[in-house]
Amino acid sequence: MGTTRTTTAENGVMEARQAIADGGQIERVLAQLGKRCIVLVGMMGAGKTSIGKRLANLLHLPFLDADSEIEKAANLSIPEIFAKHGEADFREGEKRVVARLLSSGPAVLATGGGAYMNEETRERCRAEGVTIWLKADAPVLLERVRKKGNRPLLDRPNPEEVMRELLREREPIYSLADIVIASREGPHQTVIGDIIAALDVFLSERAAS
Ligand code: S3P
Repeated sequence: MGTTRTTTAENGVMEARQAIADGGQIERVLAQLGKRCIVLVGMMGAGKTSIGKRLANLLHLPFLDADSEIEKAANLSIPEIFAKHGEADFREGEKRVVARLLSSGPAVLATGGGAYMNEETRERCRAEGVTIWLKADAPVLLERVRKKGNRPLLDRPNPEEVMRELLREREPIYSLADIVIASREGPHQTVIGDIIAALDVFLSERAAS
């Protein structure tokens, strides 16, 4: 009773705040964001969920995760949805869920790696949100997803090849995002600082045009 304990999440937020040189950035970003979502796109392992949660925390916005919402709606895990209903069904559900989540902004929305490949979803994300591609190279992505068995697309004998093929196909589309941020190795707050700075510039320019 009476002792104040700082949680890991709070520590992360404090560190991220310290990484942001200009304290006014957060307030400006929130004011200019209005009701829109900050939409994180990019490959599996890009850090959309881990960075997204911390970014939402810092901005005091809700964090929305499209994959989790799809799992909740289906009452199945993503691998189970793929196995039971197939990828096409999953993609239909993904399109509906992202559309629904986008209308509940302002929030930070992490999309699944394939969501932005759908043209309708992409247009919606760009119209109703600010899109950020978290970009990382194949070896980094592979290392991050290696230990988890929850990516059905990589559940093959040659995940490296699949990852490279997906990157070849998807990078030109991801690059249509409003903002591109390198999902660098190292402390999350560095990437979050980069995101806040880029959002500040992007939203100010958009407001001025
Ligand atoms: C997918 C990425 C996954 C999940 C599904 C398909 C993809 O989400 O939506 O396994 O097509 O790249 P994450 O990017 O969050 O891993």
